[in-house]
Amino acid sequence: MGRQVIQCANVFFSPTGTTRRVVKGVSQGLAMRPRNVDLTMPGARTTPVSLEKDELLLLASPVHGGRLPKVVRETFGRLPGGRRPAVAVVVYGNRAYDDALLELYDLCLAKGYEVVGAAAFVGEHSYSHVLGKNRPDPADDELARRFGLAVRQTLLTDRCLSEKPLLLKASRPYRPLWEKRPLAPATSRRCAGCLSCVKHCPAGAFVDGDPRRIDRDKCLLCAACIKLCPERAKSIDDDDFCDDMAALAAANLERKEPATFLP
Ligand SMILES: Cc1cc2nc3c(=O)[nH]c(=O)nc-3n(C[C@H](O)[C@H](O)[C@H](O)COP(=O)(O)O)c2cc1C
Repeated sequence: MGRQVIQCANVFFSPTGTTRRVVKGVSQGLAMRPRNVDLTMPGARTTPVSLEKDELLLLASPVHGGRLPKVVRETFGRLPGGRRPAVAVVVYGNRAYDDALLELYDLCLAKGYEVVGAAAFVGEHSYSHVLGKNRPDPADDELARRFGLAVRQTLLTDRCLSEKPLLLKASRPYRPLWEKRPLAPATSRRCAGCLSCVKHCPAGAFVDGDPRRIDRDKCLLCAACIKLCPERAKSIDDDDFCDDMAALAAANLERKEPATFLP
């Protein structure tokens, strides 16, 4: 006998918007009433998230250094526990998702959720316009919808899901946590003072609302300000960082495809 789940809480963190777009695609395939819980901005993360009874939980996060971002580990870690169906999704920039999906899956299991599907999708890399360029693209959107539909069918046919662990391609212990370099984006003279970087900073790292002053310790180096600046006035102007990114792009030019896992 299948389960009647009619609403889905889409809980996500998405500094540069690719995870948000993947969530939208999966949500369309799920064809349930969506409730978006966008935890990208600091204000949204101060309010506890309440979940409704019999609601499917779609948890989605970008990959940072092959793991979940610290802010996601902390915020998702505070979600209410209990037996409920959940879907785990990560989005990565065409290098690798490493242990991030397994980490999200384990977080769901620790909460008591029954994971009915997991997937890793590709989005344009936060630090590059070459790596995963313009992804997710329409083909990714279609795969996201199909994954959502497959999860819906799994739920409707209900096959003792808790007894079927998902076989994810990763291993424990996870790789070491990504260590943020003591850097923050620099601002060029092109800055027109529109303040969209200040308004959309997921870390609230701009000092006194000044678009040119970023608190390095607060900055997540998530690249939201770099990607959304209409004047392209923000960049990371550190030589070592730029060399590393160039090498990363050169080594990962081949297109990677989304991976999906169902019970
Ligand atoms: C700090 C940081 C670390 C990242 N680490 C990885 C990584 O290990 N592997 C990868 O393929 N992409 C990595 N990326 C790229 C993001 O996972 C990718 O661009 C994702 O689509 C961003 O999601 P968003 O648009 O929702 O912020 C990293 C990005 C940032 C900002």
